[in-house]
Amino acid sequence: MENKKIAIVTGAVKGIGNSITVRLIKDNYFVVMVDVDQSNGELFESENVGKCKFILGNISNKEDVKSIFKYVQNNYNRVDLLVNNAGIIRDNMIWNMSEEDFDDVIEINLKGTWMMCKEAALLMKIQNKGRIVNITSRAWLGNKGQSNYSASKAGVVGLTRVLALELGKYNVCVNAIAPGLIDTPLTKGLREDVLEQLVNAQPTKSIGKPEDIANAVAFLGSYDTNFITGQTIYVDGGKSIGSNL
Ligand SMILES: NC(=O)c1ccc[n+]([C@@H]2O[C@H](COP(=O)([O-])OP(=O)(O)OC[C@H]3O[C@@H](n4cnc5c(N)ncnc54)[C@H](O)[C@@H]3O)[C@@H](O)[C@H]2O)c1
Repeated sequence: MENKKIAIVTGAVKGIGNSITVRLIKDNYFVVMVDVDQSNGELFESENVGKCKFILGNISNKEDVKSIFKYVQNNYNRVDLLVNNAGIIRDNMIWNMSEEDFDDVIEINLKGTWMMCKEAALLMKIQNKGRIVNITSRAWLGNKGQSNYSASKAGVVGLTRVLALELGKYNVCVNAIAPGLIDTPLTKGLREDVLEQLVNAQPTKSIGKPEDIANAVAFLGSYDTNFITGQTIYVDGGKSIGSNL
């Protein structure tokens, strides 16, 4: 373990998070995978012995978050990179959205990310070194039917900017990645006609791959970059530039 960097990735079992995990393992990180999906997490760990450790944990549960960091501290005594990727959607127009769907999305996407950042900040401040990469979404700019999700992801952008200010002097860079439309189990849940419309609205007329996000995480998480902090990098096929319909 001495010759490996330690990364924590949340939502590491499926979709973008799993792609990030695979990429970081390739880049000689030992990855602590946090997820609520136990069976697939344990399966991945058993197929990648010595390269990762799966921890069953809900990032919106304070006790889980504390015990994740306690485990990391006790076993590895450091964390080089935290990737806050876990997130959910519960879409609806505001007049049809339940308060529960609003609360769940904010609790996981924003408060869960904040709790993970808080524990990482405590540790990284002491070690005087660290990287945090938060996965937000292009949707923070606004998407109909996503008042809960857009608000949560806008919160993650704000959180990223503040932590860059607070942790800068401790050699900790904090950045966000804003994915656009990416081919994952989350987007596979969309209706076919809706997906087609979304792809058509892309300047590239294509859907991104989880690896596109993993590549950006590998760059921002590395120690080659010491002077990029507080930024939100769009990996969205140009969608953030404006409408292309
Ligand atoms: N797929 C896209 O098009 C897209 C676009 C923009 C942003 N994003 C963001 O990227 C991230 C990953 O998205 P994805 O498409 O891979 O999603 P996904 O649903 O395919 O995977 C999310 C993973 O997070 C885990 N998870 C969910 N809630 C959790 C919790 N409370 N604690 C721990 N783990 C939890 C799930 O079990 C799953 O393994 C999310 O933050 C999402 O908002 C995705």
